[in-house]
Amino acid sequence: MKRANASPPIHDLLAERWSPRAFDPNDSMEGAAIDTLLEAARWAPSASNTQPWRFLIGIRGDSTFAEIVKSLKPGNAKWAPNAAVLILALAKHVKEDQSPLPHAAYDTGQAVAHLTIQAQALGLSTHQMAGFDSKIADTLGVPEIYKPMTVIAIGRTGDADQLLEEDLLAREKTPRQRRARDQIAIQGRWSKSLED
Ligand SMILES: Cc1cc2nc3c(=O)[nH]c(=O)nc-3n(C[C@H](O)[C@H](O)[C@H](O)COP(=O)(O)O)c2cc1C
Repeated sequence: MKRANASPPIHDLLAERWSPRAFDPNDSMEGAAIDTLLEAARWAPSASNTQPWRFLIGIRGDSTFAEIVKSLKPGNAKWAPNAAVLILALAKHVKEDQSPLPHAAYDTGQAVAHLTIQAQALGLSTHQMAGFDSKIADTLGVPEIYKPMTVIAIGRTGDADQLLEEDLLAREKTPRQRRARDQIAIQGRWSKSLED
């Protein structure tokens, strides 16, 4: 576990969530757990309650999982196929009449954040990925008004020393880093401290 070095302390579910790569290839997830994760996503807030998120679920061994694996960029293809579940998260970015839904990506990210914390509460790990070929949406029959945002790997972790090659193992063990709090938020007007 790579617990966040948070000060002041934050909730364990937030501090203990991180994005591992050493998923256990022998682990499988019960349907009830998947239902719980999707229920957590379902209750996320969204602009005008538009709920623009959609999820296509691949369970290791099924054809959706295999197609999602084929779409992964090489760096992710090394480890993500060991996850029990791969979910393609999509955002409905325009309505059927082509008028835009400008907060669709924001809302979908928030639904996924709910899902990741619910997973943490169930003892499951999650790892979101942008490194995949968005043509997966065509392959899986997704209409164009839904834009693929991320693939989410979900499952239990195993022994990283056994499961990962040297380069990924080093990353798995690197402490998590974040910008300082005054580099992301200040009271008042814009400050240089917020800039890169
Ligand atoms: C939108 C998004 C895209 C990401 N894409 C990838 C990816 O393609 N491959 C990967 O290994 N990690 C990916 N990550 C994971 C991030 O690198 C990770 O969340 C970040 O380094 C912070 O680490 P932590 O989640 O362990 O706190 C992605 C995360 C997000 C939210």
